Amino acid sequence: MTSTQTPDRLQRPIAETAIDADTFASMRRDNLARWPTGGRVDLDESVEYLSRLPLHKNLAAVTRAAHAERRCLTQPRGGFGTLTMQRELMVALDKEGLADIVPTTTDSYTRNELFEQAQKGMEESERAGRSLLNGFPIVNVGHRVSRQLIEAIDKPAIMLTGTTMPKLTGEIGYAAGYTGYLGSGIAYTVSYIKELSIADGIRNYQYLDRLVAEYQSRGVELHRRQPSFLTGTNVPPCIAIAIGVLDALLAAAQGVRHYGIELGQTLHLVQDAAAIACCEELAQEYLAKKGHHGVFTPVSSLHWMGAWPYDEAQSAALVALGGYIAAVGGAVNVTTKSVQEAHGIPTPQANAEGLRTTRMGIYLARGLRLDGMPEYEREKDLIRAEVRAIVDRTLEMGDGDAALGSVRAFEAGVLDVPWSPNRHVKSRIMPARDADGYLRVLDAADVPLPREVMEVHEAGLRRRAERSGVPFDHELAVQSVYEHSEPLQQLMPDGWFRGAATRA
Ligand code: 5AD
Repeated sequence: MTSTQTPDRLQRPIAETAIDADTFASMRRDNLARWPTGGRVDLDESVEYLSRLPLHKNLAAVTRAAHAERRCLTQPRGGFGTLTMQRELMVALDKEGLADIVPTTTDSYTRNELFEQAQKGMEESERAGRSLLNGFPIVNVGHRVSRQLIEAIDKPAIMLTGTTMPKLTGEIGYAAGYTGYLGSGIAYTVSYIKELSIADGIRNYQYLDRLVAEYQSRGVELHRRQPSFLTGTNVPPCIAIAIGVLDALLAAAQGVRHYGIELGQTLHLVQDAAAIACCEELAQEYLAKKGHHGVFTPVSSLHWMGAWPYDEAQSAALVALGGYIAAVGGAVNVTTKSVQEAHGIPTPQANAEGLRTTRMGIYLARGLRLDGMPEYEREKDLIRAEVRAIVDRTLEMGDGDAALGSVRAFEAGVLDVPWSPNRHVKSRIMPARDADGYLRVLDAADVPLPREVMEVHEAGLRRRAERSGVPFDHELAVQSVYEHSEPLQQLMPDGWFRGAATRA
């Protein structure tokens, strides 16, 4: 995995400070030389190409407009192993799915910078006439040819690369005319990789953020976005927001002025709406405190990121509700899934249907807002208290530096993520769902959540344990992970069905 071995790793101690111009120029030279298509990227030419894109194909401009008008945009995921298949997919998502933002997900080889294997996978996919890769190998295809994808659609496009090593996909993706890139140093490092340290994950994304600042200084505003967690389990909003805020501080320190933050849905309307509102508010609060003014931080909402039911009818409810929740909460976009989620990568048609179902959910939400509703206001107060406790302690630990603080906070368990695959994360914090469906913290471990907050969490969780006849321990946490994927007969209490039968 080459990018972790690039020379900058040894030169720069971990700190949030912006990479200076000379260092960045030499880092770019080393990086682009790692694969032939990298060597063909010419920043001046890319700036010119991106400047000529119409505004409705620039994700930065489209996101700003949607935010100003409080519209919720739809965005799927999607990637196939050849140019032709990828083009057909993107056109289907644009035209049949009415997607507002068209994605390109890269394949696992590309995510791990195994470009030789990606090349083989692409060639075999071409021969087989079907995708043998789980995404699009953009580095192998290169930015010039990939521009055909941008030119085949009439929407802005975003790179979804699910990687802790974004330096080549970032260079090539932006040069190709993608105006957005999803990923961040903390969230992806704790989601996707076992060995890479938090410090190296942060360093890799500092490069990408510095590149985006470079484009910005040449008059091209690009969309950067912090991803939610891909751990496939429950992540309480306070953890997601605290890490979102820290990733935003790191990006802003490199000069990024447009930085979205994603939040996975808990599937509780009140909690998700409160989380969306608090995320933007707290990002702004901490950016201002650190002296970063004028940074735009819209929030994206993600369809359920935990286990999905196999029953397509049951899944359809999660898809529609996901649009509704995102719209009521005021998210600037919702990232969609389809009824085929439990079965693997969706067909273009199912993917497009998921987009339309979501759009209908958004439509049905109309102008509904929860402001003033006691439960919503209480939930926001709770989230603010939780996030401030975590972020304040983290910054203290770094003597004010968000990068150093994050590394030390993970070491100490002050920053913690449930069930992370990364060995630099303690993963001792345990979430569970309470009696009213809120995602709460069962065991905070070393995360400094205030006592009053933990009392609220515990009360709801004890009621849940009592009602379900489950002990008040980790069993409750595990049960909460699989809950939504259970077949309906198991999900609903017995009496529910018996009652229905008696009435009939
Ligand atoms: N096409 C469509 N969706 C994809 N996902 C991952 N790869 C692809 C792809 N090539 C989606 C899956 C997964 C989520 C993280 O991303 O829905 O759950």
